[in-house]
Amino acid sequence: MGEKERWDRHHSDRMLRYPSEDVVRFIVRNWETSQSRNGLRALDLGCGSGRHTVYLAKEGFRAYGTDISAIGLANAEQFLRQEGASAELKWSALDNIPYQDDFFDLVLAWESIHYGDYSFGRRVGGEIFRVLKSGGRLFISFRSRDDNHPGEETAERFTFEGREGEEGLLFHLYDRKEALSVLEGFEIVYVDRFFWTRYNQSQLNTSFMIEARKAL
Ligand SMILES: C[S@@+](CC[C@H](N)C(=O)[O-])C[C@H]1O[C@@H](n2cnc3c(N)ncnc32)[C@H](O)[C@@H]1O
Repeated sequence: MGEKERWDRHHSDRMLRYPSEDVVRFIVRNWETSQSRNGLRALDLGCGSGRHTVYLAKEGFRAYGTDISAIGLANAEQFLRQEGASAELKWSALDNIPYQDDFFDLVLAWESIHYGDYSFGRRVGGEIFRVLKSGGRLFISFRSRDDNHPGEETAERFTFEGREGEEGLLFHLYDRKEALSVLEGFEIVYVDRFFWTRYNQSQLNTSFMIEARKAL
């Protein structure tokens, strides 16, 4: 089963509806009033079933979502309709964003960039830089090496094959230096961490969350 089919399967049996609290904080911190959001283009990169695309659209942004899973995008379309919101959705790979240079005011890449090896991450970072306007903001998360749920390591150090629902998917666990190297060219606003546990704390997931800005 290929990567796209794996993600289709993932999106067939689950659908997150609520935005991450960290994403909400990022939005409110930078664009507190509805006037400040008016007309701004916001890309949800790796949007999945669209929980953040819907949030961005309802919060007054011109929302866009891209993903490799057609089922994720169909879920997102349905979710937007249910919520009376609208966004432009496109099928595309994270490292080939189908928009022109300097197009977006903000890019959200939540829980998506680490699904690939390190060189994939670097390409995605370059693409985000390309499509962001000068002065535009990025909010991005990276799974980190403190994660205790890595799966089987591949030939590349810290790149794993997933397990438990992520079988067949590659992902890379970042340290701070590597995550920042993916964001070469950006001004870093802050680097923070978030953690969650599952299965009575037997599984620990840890991530970096980074806010960055493309200089004016
Ligand atoms: C863990 S989900 C996160 C979805 C969404 N950002 C959220 O916070 O709910 C990861 C998403 O990345 C997408 N994805 C993984 N690899 C991708 C790739 N190479 N190109 C485009 N999307 C990809 C998956 O289809 C999935 O929707």
